Amino acid sequence: MRTILEILSCGSFVSGEAISRELGISRAAVWKRINSLKEQGWNIESGGKKGYRLSAGDSLEPALWTPMLQTAQLGRGEVHFVEETDSTNTDCKQLALAGAPAGSICLAELQRAGKGRLGRQWISPAGVGLWQSVLLRPRLAPQLAPLITFCAALAMAQAVRETTGMDVRIKWPNDLVCGGKKLCGILLEAAIDPDQIEYVIVGVGLNVYRAAVPPELLERAASIEDFCQPPLRRMILVHYLAALEKLINDLQAQGLAGITEAYHRLSCTLGSRVHVSGAVDLTGTAEEIDEVGALLVRTDDGELHRVLSGDVSVRGVMGYV
Ligand code: BTN
Repeated sequence: MRTILEILSCGSFVSGEAISRELGISRAAVWKRINSLKEQGWNIESGGKKGYRLSAGDSLEPALWTPMLQTAQLGRGEVHFVEETDSTNTDCKQLALAGAPAGSICLAELQRAGKGRLGRQWISPAGVGLWQSVLLRPRLAPQLAPLITFCAALAMAQAVRETTGMDVRIKWPNDLVCGGKKLCGILLEAAIDPDQIEYVIVGVGLNVYRAAVPPELLERAASIEDFCQPPLRRMILVHYLAALEKLINDLQAQGLAGITEAYHRLSCTLGSRVHVSGAVDLTGTAEEIDEVGALLVRTDDGELHRVLSGDVSVRGVMGYV
């Protein structure tokens, strides 16, 4: 059964009569429910004959975005939205262990202990980013699990491009960058048996407003607001979930070949001079990703190196990012 918030999530006036018809309740009951929503703090304008209009600001309240979903599965399992948590990845892992269906999602306005790649911390202040994790149970060979990271990066790149027009690119393996700075990070956590993937948690942190980036990171990190007026976070989310679902389906159907063209189009790494640090330290040209997602880098002596993890800097117009 739909709720009044879902009906008003369109953002325009909806008459009391239309709401009462849709919900099968009396006009008096509509009025009572509207009043109780107002008491809970929702900003609902009463426009006489025109009816009611919700000004929801940039809220991530699920009732406001689930009606807009264009997916068959993602965002349609359990949906957990909280003001504050340690990490949405940890919350989503608990859902996975409790048997929640694929497509479940955890979102938070603030993370107290957001997790980044390579054991780093991900700073996630309140209300200024999109901090969320999606539970997947993909039908994929276990060795292909790392490729999901490319689907997530592509999906968020497409979502940001569609909702802002920004020229967002992907730095291997999965950072989203714009203007030479990091805009978004992705952390995959998975439980994989020898013969099947039990679950994958796809955690994505997107800096939306300037306040998402702490002063000490300003040289390397940016937010959407540095480039344009940010769209509503729930719009980015709905675009992201639609794109992610399609890419995961493509990956399940065709393996790497299903996402290669899109990854090449949006990658700022492939074809560029790169410096890799971490387990290996080398400089060369990034030529390709292989069938399990490793980066193939050719050094100037002609040798081809397979990079499985590490920090990659890409040489571009902005120097190295
Ligand atoms: C990186 O280091 O680039 C990855 C950052 C991933 C951050 C996101 S925010 C939502 C989800 N919850 C976490 O604790 N981490 C991921």
